[in-house]
Amino acid sequence: MKRSTIVIAGGACLLVLGAAFAGVSLAGGQGTAGARSGAAAGTDSTWSFPLPALRGGGYSSLTGVRPGGAWPTLPRRVLGPVQPIFYRHDIHAGQYRMPCLYCHNNAGNSWTANIPTESTCMGCHLVTSAPDTAGNPNPEIQKLRDFYSKGENIPWVRINKIAEHAHFPHMRHVNAGLTCQSCHGNIQQMPRVFPANDVNRMGWCTDCHMRRGITRDCTACHF
Ligand code: HEC
Ligand code: HEC
Ligand code: HEC
Ligand code: HEC
Ligand code: HEC
Repeated sequence: MKRSTIVIAGGACLLVLGAAFAGVSLAGGQGTAGARSGAAAGTDSTWSFPLPALRGGGYSSLTGVRPGGAWPTLPRRVLGPVQPIFYRHDIHAGQYRMPCLYCHNNAGNSWTANIPTESTCMGCHLVTSAPDTAGNPNPEIQKLRDFYSKGENIPWVRINKIAEHAHFPHMRHVNAGLTCQSCHGNIQQMPRVFPANDVNRMGWCTDCHMRRGITRDCTACHF
């Protein structure tokens, strides 16, 4: 898969720190990030880095993606449970095209897909804070920084969960080439995650298995 590159504007003083944190290489150069709502006037320093090349977990649709430019506008009604931080997939995975596996890196090699740790977020947000014109950080990013400095875990609300007596191996599905979106919907367009499918329904699992000739042996999922 082609390497993705993220170009973001940030405070020059924290550049090196942020880059060391994220383990990314800096490439100077002129910014392509256009006018972003909430961006401070005068943050003209731009940093860019390649995200890791990843297999699987790609996009099924890139419609509505706007690299740089204004943040995607919020719909009148934002679906999904209210989270402790208003973290937006439509900005990170959509507008900035961050690969799903950059954050959910276990999805391809483990039964459970992980929620990223705060360090993953802070690799960028030590540097970028989407400040307002007065230079104050975006309040939601400030919440992230507060959790991080207090050493507290962010109590994210769990959305997809199947019954304890059944087992779902993420890695088998991701490595079989199924996109995340085929089960979770177009997450990269969601300001807040909502369940696109009721995953806790045996018929949903077995329908797809039947269509694709995958096992429906009870012990594959119940053991
Ligand atoms: C910058 C990191 C990051 C990226 C990139 C990212 N996510 Fe997430 N994802 C999160 C965080 C944090 C949460 C928990 C908060 C929430 O639900 O929004 C989450 C939650 C989710 C959930 C719900 C988990 C649950 O509780 O059931 C799904 C599904 C998901 N992401 C899929 C994706 C997909 C698909 C992509 C790529 C299109 C993606 N994510 C890209 C950080 C990320
Ligand atoms: C690869 C870099 C990167 C990572 C990793 C990252 N972000 Fe961001 N984030 C950005 C950029 C770029 C913006 C837009 C900032 C701007 O326009 O100045 C942003 C904006 C935000 C915002 C404000 C807009 C919004 O989405 O509501 C929040 C809150 C946020 N990020 C939270 C998080 C959290 C929580 C994580 C970890 C799960 C995370 N970010 C991981 C790059 C990143
Ligand atoms: C075949 C359907 C399917 C595919 C494909 C899939 N998921 Fe999931 N996902 C699920 C189910 C089912 C659950 C609930 C699992 C459970 O409760 O054990 C889930 C749960 C999650 C969760 C919550 C944490 C967890 O593991 O329980 C995250 C995050 C997530 N998925 C992200 C992703 C990402 C990112 C991808 C693509 C790389 C992906 N998923 C691909 C069906 C899928
Ligand atoms: C969109 C289609 C789809 C859905 C929905 C789906 N699966 Fe699968 N599943 C597959 C495919 C394709 C494979 C084969 C992967 C491979 O070849 O390794 C698979 C393989 C599996 C396996 C491994 C089977 C073996 O051969 O050992 C288990 C276990 C499994 N799925 C459980 C589930 C559960 C539980 C659910 C529902 C929560 C579910 N799947 C939903 C497509 C799906
Ligand atoms: C592809 C995965 C998969 C296979 C194969 C599968 N199940 Fe399930 N089963 C699930 C999931 C996921 C749930 C939990 C969701 C639910 O309750 O509908 C479940 C739930 C159940 C329940 C509880 C239903 C309820 O209403 O509480 C029973 C009983 C059950 N399965 C029996 C079986 C039997 C018997 C077989 C073999 C003929 C089988 N399952 C094959 C995934 C599977």
